[in-house]
Amino acid sequence: MPDRVVWSHEVTNIPLPPLVKGLPILGSSFELAADSPKFFLNQYHEVGSIFRVRALDRQFTVIAGTEANQFVNQVGTEFLSGKDFWQDFVKELGVDELLVSLDGDRHQQQRRFLKSGYSRNAIIHAFPETIQLIQSLTADLRSGQRLQVLPFFQKIICEQLGMLLADCSPGEYCADLVSFLQTALNVLVVRQSPSFLLWMPSYKHAKRRVLELARIAIAKRRSSDVKRERPNLIDDLIADSKTLHPMFSEAELIAAAVGPYLAGIDTVANTCSFMLYALLKSPEVMAKVMQEVDLLFRDGIPSAEQLRGMSALHGTAMETLRMYPVAAAIQRYAIADFAFQGYRVEAGTHVIIATTLPHFLPQFFPNPNSFDIDRFHPPRSEHKQNGAFAPFGAGAHLCLGNGLAEVQIMLTMATLLHQLEFSLESPNYTIQPTNNPTFSPGNKFYLCVQGRNSYDKNRVE
Ligand code: HEM
Repeated sequence: MPDRVVWSHEVTNIPLPPLVKGLPILGSSFELAADSPKFFLNQYHEVGSIFRVRALDRQFTVIAGTEANQFVNQVGTEFLSGKDFWQDFVKELGVDELLVSLDGDRHQQQRRFLKSGYSRNAIIHAFPETIQLIQSLTADLRSGQRLQVLPFFQKIICEQLGMLLADCSPGEYCADLVSFLQTALNVLVVRQSPSFLLWMPSYKHAKRRVLELARIAIAKRRSSDVKRERPNLIDDLIADSKTLHPMFSEAELIAAAVGPYLAGIDTVANTCSFMLYALLKSPEVMAKVMQEVDLLFRDGIPSAEQLRGMSALHGTAMETLRMYPVAAAIQRYAIADFAFQGYRVEAGTHVIIATTLPHFLPQFFPNPNSFDIDRFHPPRSEHKQNGAFAPFGAGAHLCLGNGLAEVQIMLTMATLLHQLEFSLESPNYTIQPTNNPTFSPGNKFYLCVQGRNSYDKNRVE
C-alpha cells in the first residue's frame, strides 16, 4: 500500500481504477445496502485506496485512506465539487444554492460570514441556560421508565441548537424536522429511497412546517429590539439583510435559518446515543466518566475550562466519533480530470471519499475495534496523524459546527449522567445500527432510566 499520496493533473496513458467485481446488473448493491463502510474497508484492504463500484444503474469511484483525506484537504477544491450532490436538497428548501452546495470564493465568503454564529462560543457562554434546558426536558422522566434513545436525543439537541443559534424553540416542530430531513436526504442526496415519497402528504406537511419554523424564528428576531451582547446566527443573518447589498436573498435567509434546526438531528443526536451505548457496554469507562461528572458539578454550573479538563469524558466523546462515525463518507463530483495513486478519474465522475475509513486501520488506531478512550491523550494522540481522524469530513466543507458539536456532546452527556442513571434492557443487548442515511442507532434502541441520588442532593439551580 503506498504511503505517499500521489495525485496529478496528468492523466494520459493512465488506467481507470479497478472495478470491484459484482453480480450481473445488481453489481455491489447488496453489500452497499447491508453496510457500505464495511464494504469499502474490505475493498481498501483487497484493492487499495481507489476503486470503482457499480450498483444497478449507478457507478462511482471510491477514494479512501489517509491519502484520500490528505488529497481532499490539500487540493480538493481544484478537482471536486459538492454542488450536484447537494443541489436537489438545496432546491427543496426553495433556493438555488446554500453553503453545502457552494464552491470557490462564494463558498469561502459565506463560510467566513457564518463562522461566528456556528462557533463553539455559541454554547460556551450559555452553559447555565443549556443545562437548565436539558433539566427541563428530562424533568418528566420517571424512574423505571423505558426510553427510546434516539428521539430523546433528537429533541434535546434540536431544542439546544434552536435556542443557542436562533433564540427560538422548535417545540412541536421537532418531529417535522426529523421527518423532513430523513426523507429529503434519502431521496434527494444519497438517493436510496424512491422519489414518490416527496409527493406524500406527510412529507409535504413536514417540509411546509420546517420552512414555517424558519420564518417564525426570523420574524421573532425582526420584531424584537433586544440588542444581544453576543449576536447569534440569526442576529448575523438579519443584520446582513439590512445592509445595502445583502449576501443572502430573503429566500436564502429562510433556508439558512433552517440550518441550526437540522444540523444536529442526524449528527449530534446519533453520536450522543452511540456514546451512551458505548458507556453502558464499558463499565470501567463509565466509572471513570461518572467520577469526573460528579466532580464537574460539585460546585454548581461548570465552566468551559472545567469541562475541557474532563479527560475521560473527552476521550469517550472522541472515541465515539471514531468508532461510530455518523457521517462515514462525503460525496462529490469530479470537475476536472485527475490522477490519484496512479489511476485516472475523469471529470463528471461521482466520487465517494470514505473519510472515516482510516478510523478502522490498525496502523493508525491499534486494535481499532476496541473502545479505548486513552488513544487521544499524549503521548499517543493517535487522532493527530495526518488524515487519520475525520469524523467531521475533510477539505473546504469541513463541518463548520465541529467545535460547537464537541462541546455540546460533552455538556449534554455530563448533564444527563449527573442527574440520571441509565441501563441497557439486557446486559447482552447489542445495538443494530442502520444507514438511514447517516449511521444511526435507529429507533429500536431503548434504555431504562433511573434518577440518581447524588443529583437530588446536589441539584443545579
Ligand atoms: C457529531 C456531530 C457532527 C458531525 C459528525 C458533522 C459532520 C459533518 C460533515 C461530515 C460535514 C461535511 C459535509 C460535506 O462535506 O458534504 C458537515 C458540514 C457542516 N456541518 Fe456538521 N456535523 C456535526 C454537527 C454539526 C453541528 C452541531 C452544526 C451546527 C450547529 C454543524 C454545521 C455544519 C455546517 C454548517 C456544515 C456545512 C459546511 C460547509 O459546507 O462549508 N454540524 N458536518
